[in-house]
Amino acid sequence: MTTSDILIHQDLLIPQDTAAALVDPTAYATPRLHETYAWLRANNPLGVAEPEGFDRFWVVTKHADILEISRQNALFRSGERPTTITDQASDARVRAMTGGSPHLVRSLVQMDAPDHLKYRALTQAWFMPANLRKLEERIRDIARTAVDRLAAFDGRCDFVTDLALGYPLHVIMEILGVPEEDEPRMLKLTQELFGVRDPDKARKAAELSPSQLAELIQLSIADFGAYFGAMSADRRAHPRDDLASIIANASIDGKPISDFEAMSYYIIVATAGHDTTSATTSTILWALAQNPAELAKVKADPSLIPSLVEEGIRWATPVKTFMRSATADYELRGRTIAKDDWLMLCYASGNRDEEVFDDPFVFRADRKPNKQLAFGYGAHLCLGQHLAKMEMRILFEELLPRLKSVELAGEPKLTEAVFVSGLKSLPIRFQMA
Ligand code: HEM
Repeated sequence: MTTSDILIHQDLLIPQDTAAALVDPTAYATPRLHETYAWLRANNPLGVAEPEGFDRFWVVTKHADILEISRQNALFRSGERPTTITDQASDARVRAMTGGSPHLVRSLVQMDAPDHLKYRALTQAWFMPANLRKLEERIRDIARTAVDRLAAFDGRCDFVTDLALGYPLHVIMEILGVPEEDEPRMLKLTQELFGVRDPDKARKAAELSPSQLAELIQLSIADFGAYFGAMSADRRAHPRDDLASIIANASIDGKPISDFEAMSYYIIVATAGHDTTSATTSTILWALAQNPAELAKVKADPSLIPSLVEEGIRWATPVKTFMRSATADYELRGRTIAKDDWLMLCYASGNRDEEVFDDPFVFRADRKPNKQLAFGYGAHLCLGQHLAKMEMRILFEELLPRLKSVELAGEPKLTEAVFVSGLKSLPIRFQMA
C-alpha cells in the first residue's frame, strides 16, 4: 500500500480535523499541537495527511522513525520538493517564479549530495567547538550587557522583546559581520520569513492568499539579497575575520560560488541563527518561572546549566518540522512509503515521545539521558548547534547567579507559525541581585 494509490487504505489516513491542525498556524500557538502529536503517536504514528489545499504527506511522529528517515539522506532528499510544509497554491506560485524549482533560495537545507557536503564544508570548521571557543569571551560580554539591561528594568519586563530577541541576534550578526545599526532590519526580515502568517509579525495582519504570501516571502528575500549583495562585494574587496568573508570568497571545485548561493548562505545563517535560539532562551525562562524548584536546583548547582539548556531545547523544539521526499519505496512500521512521497518530520513530537523520555511532559533541568532531536539528524544536522548551546549556556551562567526570583506577570503568547515558532511575548516579574 503506498500513498500514491488512488484509494488510500483507511488505516493510513489521519482524520481530517487532525490533519488540518498540522498545517494550521494557530494550532502551533496553543496546546492543540501537542494534543495532536500525542494522539498521532498513540493511534497512527506513521499516517498520511491530506489537508485541504495540500499535497498528501506522511506524518512521522515517533522519535525512532524521525532518526531512521533523517539518517538516510540519499533515500530521503531535501531538494525536489519544499523543505517546509507548503500548500499547493504557494508551491505552484514559487515554481512559476523560479522556473520550476520549489525553493526561492538554495541554501544547505535545500541541497542534497554531492553539493550539500561541499557547501557545508565551507563553514563546517568555523562552527565547530574548537573555533567557537575563541568567541566565548566576546559572547560573554554581550550576555553580560543583556543581563545588566534586564537588571535596569526594575523588576518587570517582557523577556522576549527585552532580552531574548536581541541577544542571539546580536551574537549572530556580529559573527556574520553585520553592523549593529542594521540589526533591526535583519530582525524584521527574519520574522517576516518565519512568522509570515502570524498577525503580529507579518507585513499585513489580514488573512493572505497563498500567492500574496509567496510574494511577501519573495519581497523579504529580495531585501536580504540587496543587503547581502553589497556585503559580499565589500568582503571580496576587503576580506575580514568574519563569516561573511568566508562566504563571499568561497570557491567550490575551483570556481567562486554564485551570488545566488552566497546570498542563500547568508540567509540561512542569519535566519536559522537567531529566531530558533531566542525562542529557546525565552522558553527556558518560562519553564523556570513555572517551576521554582527547577530554578532553585540550577542556582544551587550551576554545573547543571548545560543540561538545563539541553532540556530547554527539547521543551521548546523551535523548529517544529522539516520535509523530505522519498527517492525509492521504503518499508517502515509495516507500511510502504512510495518513491516521490513527501514526509513531514515532526521534531516537536519526537521530543515528547513516551517511548524515549520518562515523563516527557515534565520539564527537568537535570534530565539524563536527554536524546532530544531538535537539531535534526543525519547530513543536515544543525550546523549551528554548538553555537546555539554555547550562547544559551553563557547567558544563563550570567543571568542565574543574579536572578533571585521570577514569575509570570501576564499571559505568555506564542507565534502562529508552522515552521519555526516559539514565544513572542513573556511578561515577567523578577528580582535580581
Ligand atoms: C539546520 C534546528 C540554531 C544554522 C538545522 C536543522 C534543524 C535545526 C532541525 C535541520 C534541517 C534539516 O534537517 O533539513 C536548530 C535549533 C536551533 C538552531 C533548534 C537553536 C536552538 C542554529 C544556529 C545556527 C544554525 C545558532 C547558526 C548560525 C543552521 C544551518 C543549518 C541548520 C546552517 C543547515 C544545515 C544543513 O542543512 O546542512 N537547524 N538550529 N542553527 N541550522 Fe540550526
